[in-house]
Amino acid sequence: MTTAICPGSFDPPTNGHVDVINRVIARFDRVVVSVIDNPAKKALFTADERRAMLREIHGDSIEVTTFTGLLVDHVEAVGADVVVKGLRTIDDYEYENQMAQMNRHLTGMETLFMPTKPEFSFISSSLVKEVARLGGSMSGLVPDVVEKALKEKLT
Ligand code: PNS
Repeated sequence: MTTAICPGSFDPPTNGHVDVINRVIARFDRVVVSVIDNPAKKALFTADERRAMLREIHGDSIEVTTFTGLLVDHVEAVGADVVVKGLRTIDDYEYENQMAQMNRHLTGMETLFMPTKPEFSFISSSLVKEVARLGGSMSGLVPDVVEKALKEKLT
Protein backbone atom coordinates (compact mmCIF):
# COMPACT_ATOMS: atom_id res chain seq x y z
CA MET A 1 0.00 0.00 0.00
CA THR A 2 1.40 3.40 -0.99
CA THR A 3 0.55 6.38 1.19
CA ALA A 4 0.76 9.96 -0.04
CA ILE A 5 0.69 12.96 2.25
CA CYS A 6 -0.47 16.44 1.18
CA PRO A 7 0.74 18.96 3.77
CA GLY A 8 -0.19 22.63 3.79
CA SER A 9 -1.68 25.61 5.55
CA PHE A 10 -5.12 25.27 3.91
CA ASP A 11 -6.17 28.65 5.34
CA PRO A 12 -8.65 28.08 3.76
CA PRO A 13 -8.73 25.15 1.29
CA THR A 14 -9.31 26.41 -2.28
CA ASN A 15 -10.56 24.77 -5.47
CA GLY A 16 -6.88 24.41 -6.44
CA HIS A 17 -6.15 22.37 -3.29
CA VAL A 18 -9.30 20.30 -3.82
CA ASP A 19 -8.32 19.47 -7.41
CA VAL A 20 -4.80 18.38 -6.46
CA ILE A 21 -6.06 16.29 -3.52
CA ASN A 22 -8.67 14.59 -5.74
CA ARG A 23 -5.99 13.73 -8.30
CA VAL A 24 -3.81 12.31 -5.50
CA ILE A 25 -6.75 10.26 -4.18
CA ALA A 26 -7.17 8.76 -7.67
CA ARG A 27 -3.52 7.62 -7.73
CA PHE A 28 -2.62 6.45 -4.21
CA ASP A 29 -4.01 3.79 -1.87
CA ARG A 30 -4.05 6.01 1.20
CA VAL A 31 -4.04 9.81 1.31
CA VAL A 32 -3.29 11.86 4.42
CA VAL A 33 -3.98 15.59 4.29
CA SER A 34 -2.05 17.39 7.03
CA VAL A 35 -2.82 20.87 8.25
CA ILE A 36 0.10 22.76 9.78
CA ASP A 37 -0.69 24.35 13.12
CA ASN A 38 1.90 27.09 13.42
CA PRO A 39 1.12 29.48 16.29
CA ALA A 40 3.81 31.88 14.96
CA LYS A 41 1.81 32.35 11.75
CA LYS A 42 -1.54 34.08 12.27
CA ALA A 43 -4.16 32.07 10.44
CA LEU A 44 -7.75 33.15 9.75
CA PHE A 45 -9.09 29.67 10.56
CA THR A 46 -8.02 27.48 13.47
CA ALA A 47 -6.39 24.16 12.63
CA ASP A 48 -9.59 22.41 13.78
CA GLU A 49 -11.71 24.54 11.45
CA ARG A 50 -9.39 23.84 8.51
CA ARG A 51 -9.48 20.11 9.27
CA ALA A 52 -13.28 20.15 9.46
CA MET A 53 -13.55 21.87 6.06
CA LEU A 54 -11.20 19.32 4.44
CA ARG A 55 -13.16 16.46 6.01
CA GLU A 56 -16.45 17.85 4.70
CA ILE A 57 -15.03 18.37 1.20
CA HIS A 58 -13.29 14.99 0.76
CA GLY A 59 -15.21 12.72 3.17
CA ASP A 60 -13.71 9.33 3.91
CA SER A 61 -11.39 9.41 0.88
CA ILE A 62 -8.72 11.02 3.05
CA GLU A 63 -7.34 11.02 6.57
CA VAL A 64 -6.98 14.51 8.00
CA THR A 65 -4.31 15.32 10.56
CA THR A 66 -2.66 18.35 12.13
CA PHE A 67 1.07 18.75 12.62
CA THR A 68 3.57 21.08 14.22
CA GLY A 69 7.33 21.06 13.84
CA LEU A 70 9.24 19.34 11.08
CA LEU A 71 7.27 17.85 8.21
CA VAL A 72 9.72 14.94 7.91
CA ASP A 73 8.96 13.88 11.51
CA HIS A 74 5.23 13.98 10.85
CA VAL A 75 5.65 12.02 7.62
CA GLU A 76 7.45 9.30 9.57
CA ALA A 77 4.75 9.32 12.29
CA VAL A 78 1.89 8.76 9.82
CA GLY A 79 3.87 6.26 7.76
CA ALA A 80 3.66 8.14 4.46
CA ASP A 81 5.84 7.12 1.50
CA VAL A 82 5.76 10.33 -0.47
CA VAL A 83 4.86 13.99 -0.10
CA VAL A 84 2.76 15.49 -2.90
CA LYS A 85 2.71 19.26 -3.46
CA GLY A 86 0.78 21.24 -6.06
CA LEU A 87 2.68 23.72 -8.22
CA ARG A 88 1.12 26.81 -9.79
CA THR A 89 3.98 29.01 -10.91
CA ILE A 90 7.75 29.13 -11.29
CA ASP A 91 7.86 30.92 -7.91
CA ASP A 92 6.08 27.94 -6.35
CA TYR A 93 8.66 25.69 -7.96
CA GLU A 94 11.62 27.66 -6.53
CA TYR A 95 10.16 27.58 -3.03
CA GLU A 96 8.86 24.02 -3.09
CA ASN A 97 11.98 22.61 -4.68
CA GLN A 98 14.14 24.13 -1.94
CA MET A 99 11.91 22.55 0.73
CA ALA A 100 11.91 19.23 -1.11
CA GLN A 101 15.72 19.23 -1.26
CA MET A 102 15.95 20.07 2.45
CA ASN A 103 13.50 17.29 3.33
CA ARG A 104 15.42 14.81 1.18
CA HIS A 105 18.62 15.92 2.93
CA LEU A 106 17.05 15.40 6.37
CA THR A 107 15.57 11.92 5.93
CA GLY A 108 15.64 10.96 2.25
CA MET A 109 11.95 11.81 2.03
CA GLU A 110 10.68 11.92 -1.55
CA THR A 111 8.49 14.76 -2.89
CA LEU A 112 6.36 14.63 -6.04
CA PHE A 113 5.12 17.83 -7.71
CA MET A 114 1.71 17.95 -9.35
CA PRO A 115 1.02 20.92 -11.62
CA THR A 116 -2.32 22.57 -10.92
CA LYS A 117 -4.86 22.73 -13.72
CA PRO A 118 -4.51 26.08 -15.58
CA GLU A 119 -7.96 27.20 -14.47
CA PHE A 120 -6.77 27.10 -10.84
CA SER A 121 -3.27 28.48 -11.33
CA PHE A 122 -4.13 32.00 -10.10
CA ILE A 123 -5.92 30.88 -6.94
CA SER A 124 -4.19 31.21 -3.57
CA SER A 125 -5.59 31.13 -0.05
CA SER A 126 -4.19 34.64 0.56
CA LEU A 127 -5.92 36.17 -2.47
CA VAL A 128 -9.14 34.33 -1.66
CA LYS A 129 -9.12 35.87 1.82
CA GLU A 130 -8.41 39.32 0.40
CA VAL A 131 -11.25 39.07 -2.13
CA ALA A 132 -13.62 37.70 0.53
CA ARG A 133 -12.72 40.50 2.98
CA LEU A 134 -13.44 43.09 0.29
CA GLY A 135 -16.80 41.52 -0.58
CA GLY A 136 -15.88 39.94 -3.94
CA SER A 137 -17.45 36.82 -5.40
CA MET A 138 -16.09 33.45 -4.29
CA SER A 139 -17.56 31.73 -7.35
CA GLY A 140 -15.09 29.24 -8.86
CA LEU A 141 -12.51 29.90 -6.16
CA VAL A 142 -13.53 27.78 -3.16
CA PRO A 143 -15.97 24.96 -2.31
CA ASP A 144 -19.39 25.99 -0.90
CA VAL A 145 -18.45 24.95 2.64
CA VAL A 146 -15.44 27.29 2.54
CA GLU A 147 -17.48 30.16 1.09
CA LYS A 148 -19.94 29.76 3.97
CA ALA A 149 -17.14 29.62 6.54
CA LEU A 150 -15.51 32.75 5.08
CA LYS A 151 -18.82 34.63 5.29
CA GLU A 152 -19.29 33.58 8.92
CA LYS A 153 -15.72 34.48 9.84
CA LEU A 154 -15.63 37.84 8.10
CA THR A 155 -19.07 39.27 8.92
O1 PNS B 1 0.35 25.62 2.21
P1 PNS B 1 1.77 26.03 2.49
O2 PNS B 1 1.82 27.25 3.36
O3 PNS B 1 2.58 26.18 1.23
O4 PNS B 1 2.43 24.81 3.32
C1 PNS B 1 3.79 24.84 3.66
C2 PNS B 1 4.17 23.67 4.59
C3 PNS B 1 3.30 23.66 5.82
C4 PNS B 1 4.01 22.37 3.86
C5 PNS B 1 5.66 23.92 4.96
O5 PNS B 1 5.78 25.19 5.52
C6 PNS B 1 6.22 22.89 5.92
O6 PNS B 1 6.50 21.77 5.55
N1 PNS B 1 6.40 23.29 7.18
C7 PNS B 1 6.96 22.42 8.20
C8 PNS B 1 8.30 22.94 8.73
C9 PNS B 1 9.48 22.20 8.14
O7 PNS B 1 9.50 20.99 8.05
N2 PNS B 1 10.53 22.98 7.75
C10 PNS B 1 11.80 22.47 7.29
C11 PNS B 1 11.79 21.77 5.95
S1 PNS B 1 11.81 22.83 4.60
